[in-house]
Amino acid sequence: FSLKPYNTFGIDVKARHFARFDSVQELQELLQRPEVKDEPKLILGGGSNVLFTKNFEGIVLLNGIKGIAVLRQDNAFAYVKAGGGEVWHDLVQFCLEHNLGGVENLSLIPGTVGAAPLQNIGAYGTELKDVFVELEAVHLETGSIHTFDKNACQFGYRESVFKHAAKDQFIVTSVTLQLHKQHQLNTAYGAIKTTLEEMRVQQPTIQDVSAAVCHIRRSKLPDPTQIGNAGSFFKNPEIPVLLFDVLKEKHPDMPAYPVSEDRVKIPAGWLIEQCGWKGKEIGNYGVHKNQALVLVNYGGAEGEKLLQLAYDIIDSVQEKFGIILQPEVNIL
Ligand code: EPU
Repeated sequence: FSLKPYNTFGIDVKARHFARFDSVQELQELLQRPEVKDEPKLILGGGSNVLFTKNFEGIVLLNGIKGIAVLRQDNAFAYVKAGGGEVWHDLVQFCLEHNLGGVENLSLIPGTVGAAPLQNIGAYGTELKDVFVELEAVHLETGSIHTFDKNACQFGYRESVFKHAAKDQFIVTSVTLQLHKQHQLNTAYGAIKTTLEEMRVQQPTIQDVSAAVCHIRRSKLPDPTQIGNAGSFFKNPEIPVLLFDVLKEKHPDMPAYPVSEDRVKIPAGWLIEQCGWKGKEIGNYGVHKNQALVLVNYGGAEGEKLLQLAYDIIDSVQEKFGIILQPEVNIL
C-alpha cells in the first residue's frame, strides 16, 4: 500500500496494511481484530510532520473522525470540540466564522486536529496550549478512552507527553479548545504588523489577523500540494545567554529571542542560511529558497536522501556555530 498520498513530503514508501476509521467505536473494533492487534501501528493524520525513510512493516491507521461543534459557552468563552481527523485549518475557519478568537495566528498550519497536540503546534506568537482545554484519546493496546487535560499533556515548545512517556500509545480522537468572545489580538510578531499596515487595516479583527497570517505563510512557505515538504524541518535551538554573547562577537548579526532570564532561542533558518544552504538544489530535492528551515522534495526524492541532507546541514551548523540542530519532523 503506497503512502505517497498520505505524507506531504510526497515520499513513495509502502505500508504492509492500511485502515481508516471514522468513529471511536470503529477504531476500538479495529484494534480488537487479531490481524491488527499484533501488528506494529502507525497513526497518520495529515502526514505533514513526518519523513519516511523506509517502508513501514505494519499497519497504518488513518484518523477519519470528523465533526466540529460548540460544546457550551458563557459570556467570555466558547468551548469548541473537534474530531481528531478534521483538517486543522477547517477548525480555524469554523472559529473565524463563529467570531471566536484564539486560533487566528495558527491559520493554514498543515495537518489534522488530532496531530496538533502531539507537537503543540505554534506560529506567530501563539501555541495550541494557549487555547487548549482537553483531548480524548484511545489507548492502542486496551482500546480504552482516556482524557488528558492541559497539565497531563505536558506541553512545551513543539513538545508534549505524546513524544515522551505516552509516545506511540494513544490515538487522539477529539480536542476541545477554549476560545475568546472578547478578542485579544496577538500582533506582536513583526510581519503581522507590517502586513496589516499593507492591508490598510485600522482596527484589525481576528479575520484580518488570519488573512495576514495566510498571506505571510503563502509568501514564505511552500504549498505542500505543489512542492513536497513538512514545514520547519528543525526546531529553533535554545542556547545559554552566555554562549550567545560569545557567538555574537564573531557573528554580530545573529538574531535571538529571549525565552528565560538565561536562555535565548536562535532562528535555525538563520544558522542554516549562514552556512550557505538556502535555495540549494541537489537534483530533485533541496532547501527552500524563501525559508532555509524547510527541506523540499521537488518530486521523486527518496527519504534517505533528504535525511542525509538534514545530517549534512546539522554538521555544517555545528562546525560553524557549535550548535546542534534537532529535527522537528518525525523521522521514520
Ligand atoms: N531566518 C533567516 N533565514 C531564513 C529563515 C529565517 O535568516 O531562511 C531568520 C530571520 O531572522 C527571521 C527569523 O529567522 O526573522 C524567523 O523566521 P520565521 O519568522 O520564518 O520563523 P522561524 O523561526 O523560521 C518558526 C516556526 C514556524 C512558524 C514560524 C512563525 C519552528 C521550528 N518553526 O519558524 O513553524 O510558522 O516560526 O511563527 O519553531 C513549523 O513548525 O513547521 C513551522 C513552519
